[in-house]
Amino acid sequence: MSNFKWWQTAVFYQIYPRSFADGNGDGIGDFKGITEKLDYLSSLGVDALWLSPHFPSPNWDCGYDISDYCNVAAEYGTMQDFNHFLFEAHKRNMRVILDLVLNHTSDEHAWFKESKSSHDNPKADWYVWADTPPNNWQSCFDGDAWTYVPERNQYYYHYFMKQQPDLNWHNPEVKQAMWDAARFWLDLGVDGFRLDAIGTIYEDPKLTPHNVPMNLAELRRFSELAKTPKEIKLKDKYWYDMFKNQWGQPAVHDLMKELRAILDEYDGDRVLIGEDDNISFMGNGADELHLVFNFPLMRADRLTPDHVRKNQKERLAQLDALKKERGWGCNTLGNHDSSRLYTRYGNKLHDTELARLHAALVLTLKGTPFLYNGEEIGMTDYMLTDISQVKDTMGSWYYHAIVTEMGVHPEEAMLRTAEMTRDKNRTPMQWSNNPNGGFSPPLATPWLPVNPNYKNGINVLDLEKNPSSLLNYYKHLLHVRRSSVALQTGEYIPLQTTAKEYLAFVRQAAEQTVLVILNFSEHPLEMDFTRSKEIKKRNLHLLFSSAERRGGELTSPFKIAPYEVFIAKVIHE
Ligand code: GLC
Repeated sequence: MSNFKWWQTAVFYQIYPRSFADGNGDGIGDFKGITEKLDYLSSLGVDALWLSPHFPSPNWDCGYDISDYCNVAAEYGTMQDFNHFLFEAHKRNMRVILDLVLNHTSDEHAWFKESKSSHDNPKADWYVWADTPPNNWQSCFDGDAWTYVPERNQYYYHYFMKQQPDLNWHNPEVKQAMWDAARFWLDLGVDGFRLDAIGTIYEDPKLTPHNVPMNLAELRRFSELAKTPKEIKLKDKYWYDMFKNQWGQPAVHDLMKELRAILDEYDGDRVLIGEDDNISFMGNGADELHLVFNFPLMRADRLTPDHVRKNQKERLAQLDALKKERGWGCNTLGNHDSSRLYTRYGNKLHDTELARLHAALVLTLKGTPFLYNGEEIGMTDYMLTDISQVKDTMGSWYYHAIVTEMGVHPEEAMLRTAEMTRDKNRTPMQWSNNPNGGFSPPLATPWLPVNPNYKNGINVLDLEKNPSSLLNYYKHLLHVRRSSVALQTGEYIPLQTTAKEYLAFVRQAAEQTVLVILNFSEHPLEMDFTRSKEIKKRNLHLLFSSAERRGGELTSPFKIAPYEVFIAKVIHE
């Protein structure tokens, strides 16, 4: 086990600072709140925290538009509050990684303000400027990718919204400034970074236009209305074609190498995790990123045993093929950009069972698991009902675009917006059955509405009291994982690979072999492993089950319950 790095065996937990815990009663989460909840996180059993951006920001994109890389947003606290939080997290043996947004800054960043002020200021070339829009590129958030600035009588490029101008990474001064910012936090002792949207850092140098016969708003609307397989295929093609010239440039590899070299100067195995699923960003396994997310796992309407097996086969083969060091996987089923696990993988009939099954999947597959705050208590997507509540700018932009440009009825537009906006999965954490779900004091107005289902027991305090709750299930499972060298580090060996209704696999380390069975069906199933060479007639010692099952030893064949999560140690004679 000693050969494994902390970030390989750790379970990460993503904190969305604005929505986690409001310590000063202004309706916005903050460091005081997060620090007060560290004991909760420690008792949950997670090992590392990823904070979504906590930097000063005008919040057009909820912090992903940074106006100062070396400071803390005033509403989240002070540098002192940050340092105190970091110290307290480390004291509890929890690592902390930050979110580093490299592609763009806020348009209120001093760099951009200077850059846009004239043609010949020292930062004139820090962003991507053009005299006229050189092509029809779209911003993936709000329409045209080129925005006019009267001071320069020029246009700047932005892959995301217009308040997020792209930096010109061809300029060495930009690199230097950003690497300085990274060092600033590394010097304070943070354990690494999640790197935002790295694929978008460079664009096609030929500026080739896209050939999709519509703009972004039209494409979104087209996608919503696409129903037949043909239409669905076409909309996928259009999405790919619209943006393919704006990301995925090979030059990113050299940048990642530079950043990796900086991290390697520091002690403590600092880590870089790319918000990208492209394994090539791990370089030769030792010279670029340590991890990239396995997003293809979560990008399916429904996870089936077949989908998971195929995904694992492909990903693990690619990771194993890295030239210098074997790569390590990184699995997640939810974050601040995606529908919540409980809602997305539920089927309205067996949502609780399915939430448990999917949590177990992420926590038992080979690789580093990432959980998203609130999934451990079964928080669900919350549909906003009025456009005035929408804080996610891409949501309000879309609403206005389809109402004014396409004549969509405001009621329908609001339903669509509630579905597409990321606000639905960013509502405040539900801590108790007190007003505001215990996120803020009763008289405060939280920045986004709290999902009223906190009153129906979906909150930390109520769930803690119930031994069979989802929260206690997560705690138990995290504990089982932490105590099992095979679940943390073992190889993944799929068993019975044609089974449609269940996923069975072994995690095998030198010291321990563990059998995992996840029953994705609503039927009890008979399991027979007498022909699997890893199990055969060996006794199994139960480590964990989501069904009512007595502990102790059992041998194949045996039955598993509907949706059961079954984890057992294989006893070697
Ligand atoms: C990433 C973030 C997302 C943000 C975007 C632009 O995809 O996860 O929340 O809006 O980058 O920074």
